[in-house]
Amino acid sequence: MPHNAAPAEARTRPHAPPPAPSGATGPDWWLMMRAFLTKGRSIASFSPSSRFMARSMLNGIDFDSARCIVELGAGTGPITAEIAPRLRPHTKFLAVELDPVLCARLKARFPHLDVVQGDACQLDKLLAERGIPQVDHVLSGLPLPSFPADLRDTVLATSSRVLSPTGSFRQLTVMPLVYYKLYRRYFDDVRFRFVPANLPPGGVYVCRGYRA
Ligand SMILES: C[S@@+](CC[C@H](N)C(=O)[O-])C[C@H]1O[C@@H](n2cnc3c(N)ncnc32)[C@H](O)[C@@H]1O
Repeated sequence: MPHNAAPAEARTRPHAPPPAPSGATGPDWWLMMRAFLTKGRSIASFSPSSRFMARSMLNGIDFDSARCIVELGAGTGPITAEIAPRLRPHTKFLAVELDPVLCARLKARFPHLDVVQGDACQLDKLLAERGIPQVDHVLSGLPLPSFPADLRDTVLATSSRVLSPTGSFRQLTVMPLVYYKLYRRYFDDVRFRFVPANLPPGGVYVCRGYRA
């Protein structure tokens, strides 16, 4: 069984998929728009990331050598969709999404992947349950700037603690460069990639060297 596959419990479910939570119907852009309108800052973007954003997020990742990749705040899965075909059988993959409606879409779209409806602040526990001691890349779509500082610290400290020495923490944003200083407070090396072809225009911070 490939390491990135869903756990046995998910694979042995009956043929008929469980009913989606009410509201998990409609195109991805609609689910995101509605989540944004009802939950605002905890969603942070009114539309799913573009393919350009997703590719920028993955640019430079060596999928041949990566043993484990984690995606936090996966939404409806535009980045997951770019990751999935690149995963090698030896690479573990875990996607975490808090919102039940968005997560239902994610699970329906990627039944072969390990998708968890949960809180990224519990990453420690989620990795321990899977026996994962080290992660090569953490890809975050989380609205970290609007997290309370202690929860943001938890996500960044946990991610950094499990990162391999050559690993990276990657954070997408739809407010280009605005939070550069914030990420520099946490990491020694922060590069920003501008992605104009996104709605709204955004970018990716690629961070290395966590400052404990
Ligand atoms: C800006 S959206 C990004 C969605 C998707 N990655 C994309 O690129 O379109 C932020 C996502 O983070 C999720 N999120 C917010 N807080 C979270 C948390 N504590 N744990 C897991 N996911 C969370 C939201 O529900 C939302 O789907």
